[in-house]
Amino acid sequence: MLHPIDAWCWFSLRPLRLCALCAERGFGCVFPDIFVANSRRENSVTEALQIISNEHRSMWQLTVVLDELRKQLGNPRQKPDSDLFNLILDYIEQYVERVHEPKEEAFLYKAVMERTSEGNEMIAEFQREHASTPEVVARLRSQLKSLVRDYPAGVAEFQAALEEYISMMRRHILREESDLFPLARKILTDRDWDGINTAFADSEDPLFGERVRAEFRSLMSRIVNQAPEPIGFGLVAKAKPAAEAHPVLLSVANLTSQYGRIQALRGVTIEVRQGQLVALVGANGAGKTTLLRAISGVQKASAGEVRFAGQDITHLRPDQRVRMGICQVPEGRQVFGPLSVEDNLRLGAYTRGDKKSIEEDLEQMYAMFPILKQKFKQAAGTLSGGQQQMLAMARALMGRPKLLLLDEPSMGLAPLLIQEIFNAIISLREQGKTVFLVEQNAQAALSIADQAYVIETGEIVLSGSGSELLDNEQVRSAYLGI
Ligand SMILES: Nc1ncnc2c1ncn2[C@@H]1O[C@H](COP(=O)(O)OP(=O)(O)O)[C@@H](O)[C@H]1O
Ligand SMILES: [Mg+2]
Repeated sequence: MLHPIDAWCWFSLRPLRLCALCAERGFGCVFPDIFVANSRRENSVTEALQIISNEHRSMWQLTVVLDELRKQLGNPRQKPDSDLFNLILDYIEQYVERVHEPKEEAFLYKAVMERTSEGNEMIAEFQREHASTPEVVARLRSQLKSLVRDYPAGVAEFQAALEEYISMMRRHILREESDLFPLARKILTDRDWDGINTAFADSEDPLFGERVRAEFRSLMSRIVNQAPEPIGFGLVAKAKPAAEAHPVLLSVANLTSQYGRIQALRGVTIEVRQGQLVALVGANGAGKTTLLRAISGVQKASAGEVRFAGQDITHLRPDQRVRMGICQVPEGRQVFGPLSVEDNLRLGAYTRGDKKSIEEDLEQMYAMFPILKQKFKQAAGTLSGGQQQMLAMARALMGRPKLLLLDEPSMGLAPLLIQEIFNAIISLREQGKTVFLVEQNAQAALSIADQAYVIETGEIVLSGSGSELLDNEQVRSAYLGI
């Protein structure tokens, strides 16, 4: 699986290009090296560090939200969202102050100081920052209260106080990750780690245990859900409110399919509603491609049913399904290499007779993928992998499909290109197109999907909205490496 950090900001959960922080760094994620190194499960010795890193990640996301909220202040017609501010301050006060900081100080800092004085100065500074948090948060709360009352008077002061707090929090996290953790790794013994890990993982402990984590997970998810769309988490797709009202376009019921004796699909049931972006995620070999092929008709079903726009299409030929509006972009693109970009696109419209609107659609494709316009005369085979993926998608769209099936569009692509592809998929979603997206890049796919399914060895094992699955522990550990 491509690590989500390749395409998405690990902290804001947005494509790198849409993340203000990443933009500041020339679209590199804020801590690709540090965070990934620390969160990678190389060995169980430093399990506590992984827990702390996860907590840092949540806190960093909060700083992203806070910072966006800070920037939005000042519009006289729009009062600050004091509920959201307060939820974040609750989280900081209750979780960061009550759970995270004491735990770090009592176990990690203590162990490091017992082994070496090398980090003493740094740790003393961390402790001072921890100690100042309650006062800072209290001050922010009281400033917020008067701000809401006298808005917009007091904006500049509040903005400055927020900015100072955010930068302190970020500096603190970054220094712990990049200076303290390596030092701890270097000097702590296995026995030290045993003690630290036990303290961090002890699920019986009323303060640090699972229950507390669950409590704060729900606080965190309330923050996520209240954050407005353009802010940080906004890209975590919310199911469209009217979803249920959208008619079902595709339904697959108890579908089975095999290759000889290998049973690739074992009774798959899924549904795609009109105008929705539905994702199917699963590991290599799980049966994703087979399901797409069974929907487009190139793979035979041995039992079960496929219905499209109310009609049973289980036994229709692939070309009949294409004419009905089902179009698949196959795994590994498969453009017509010797033909020009433009000819490839025109071929996509071969089922259509309406010449004039074909020209219009061509322009639309060029607007969506400007690089294709630049290269319209070039042979498709000379394009890069990412450009070929864009071409394959655009070619499919030229057929004005009612349902677009995408098979792992991000596969094998460089981070920036993955981002382009996902941005294009997001824009299809915004245009109300119906898309069934198959991906191994679960983080990216779930982040933008209205609904999603998880497939394992030919069976659907989980389903829910994209954000539900992103939050699901099982999904997080199996597919997101979190
Ligand atoms: N042409 C084939 N012949 C035999 N087995 C196949 C063929 N294609 C796929 N399979 C098997 O079917 C299962 C599902 O494969 P596939 O649908 O390609 O998975 P995914 O797209 O999720 O990686 C795998 O066990 C794979 O080995
Ligand atoms: Mg596949």
